[in-house]
Amino acid sequence: MTNPADRNAALAARDLKHIWHPCTQMHDHAVAGGVPMLPIVRGEGAWLVDAEGRRYLDGISSWWTNLFGHANPRIAAALAEQARTLEHVIFAGFTHPPAIELAEELVRITPAGLDKVFFADNGSAAIEVALKMSFHYWLNQGHGGKTRFIALTGSYHGETLGALSVSDVALYRKTYAPLLLTPILAPSPDAYEGEPGETPARVAARRLAELRALLERHAHETCAVIVEPLVQCAGGMRMYHPDYLAGLRRLCDEFAVHFIADEIAVGFGRTGTLFACEQANISPDFMCLSKGLTGGTLPLSAVLTTQHVYEAFYAEYSAGKAFLHSHSYTGNPLACSAALATLAIFRDEPVLERNRTLAAHLARRLEPLRDHPHVAEVRQTGMIAAVELVADKATRRPFPAEDRRGLRVYLHGLRREALLRPLGNVVYFMPPYVVSEAEIDHLVAVAAAGIERAVE
Ligand SMILES: Cc1ncc(COP(=O)(O)O)c(C=O)c1O
Repeated sequence: MTNPADRNAALAARDLKHIWHPCTQMHDHAVAGGVPMLPIVRGEGAWLVDAEGRRYLDGISSWWTNLFGHANPRIAAALAEQARTLEHVIFAGFTHPPAIELAEELVRITPAGLDKVFFADNGSAAIEVALKMSFHYWLNQGHGGKTRFIALTGSYHGETLGALSVSDVALYRKTYAPLLLTPILAPSPDAYEGEPGETPARVAARRLAELRALLERHAHETCAVIVEPLVQCAGGMRMYHPDYLAGLRRLCDEFAVHFIADEIAVGFGRTGTLFACEQANISPDFMCLSKGLTGGTLPLSAVLTTQHVYEAFYAEYSAGKAFLHSHSYTGNPLACSAALATLAIFRDEPVLERNRTLAAHLARRLEPLRDHPHVAEVRQTGMIAAVELVADKATRRPFPAEDRRGLRVYLHGLRREALLRPLGNVVYFMPPYVVSEAEIDHLVAVAAAGIERAVE
């Protein structure tokens, strides 16, 4: 029998014997005193509990998926019921009530005009679907010369080859660049990269002018512009003004290219509105959803598009215009029922109001960090807040990536019951919506102490 005090070590050893983890240099786990491999055996609310009973407050919603707490009883009950009824069925030629209800509900709650739903099974797959659908739309309309995509610098849309092609985070892209499509990169409206004294709205206007110039040159060969609305998450929680989205909508219409809104990370209330696009009052041609869609319980994604796009594929079989994309688990009933239970919570509870109060509390708690000599910026959009650490506050010179300052914050957090997982030099907060004000206080206190250690 394993000594209870060694349960973590025993499980970690078994894990490391066979499992290869994502986004991980596995050697980090082999170094004595290095990065621990933590076996989590249960979750409750915003907390994760390891095999030895130690707790970790999930400050990042387990890669931005969890909305209403771990092992949420309402979602768990819906899943159990569905598992006893229908676990899966082929989704070509067959359908089922959870998918039908979910499609109806998604059409109801997303911006006007998004009336068609294509299901996929994770965020990257949704991006693949949107890219292929946009290209195929233009092909079916007789514009086969449109084969390229415009993406923003600093963007992240996933790591399958198509999604990675339209991503611009060097860490993920550089190694695989020879395998990728070459996007046309437009400068991000990221307000942090603005000129000194320039407002976020001015940065957005300047970047729109630059995008216009790109479209003048490339619209004839461009299928779509793809963006993460309001917050470029994996690129360092970089934030921008909603004017950019409104301007982008106008430019896409003017130059006849699609607008793909990747709301995989920012959808479902993260930015203060149910969908980030609402803050610019716009409706994209494609909206990609995943992560929070199932409340963080099961992989599922959806691409919403317009009746107009749908009609470009709708023809006699012999015309060969049908959209070709099929994953075995498309529209999985378990995942759909988890999504329905998640959306029912949004209907029944004042989620967005409560988030506003929590976000304001988080903002107050983070305020003192603005004066820290190694903090260049504290920024926030709804339930996403980020602290940008720099080597030099005056010039905003970053710490070299190889210093791995963020890792020090992460390790400090684990010792103090908090899961914080900085993106390089950016310490961020993206907690489940069930977090309490006291728990936010804990996260911020641990992060502040971790930052002190990280900048030494
Ligand atoms: C904006 C955005 N798009 C797409 C993805 C890819 O989603 P997945 O990890 O489910 O493939 C992510 C994941 O972090 C994301 O943040």
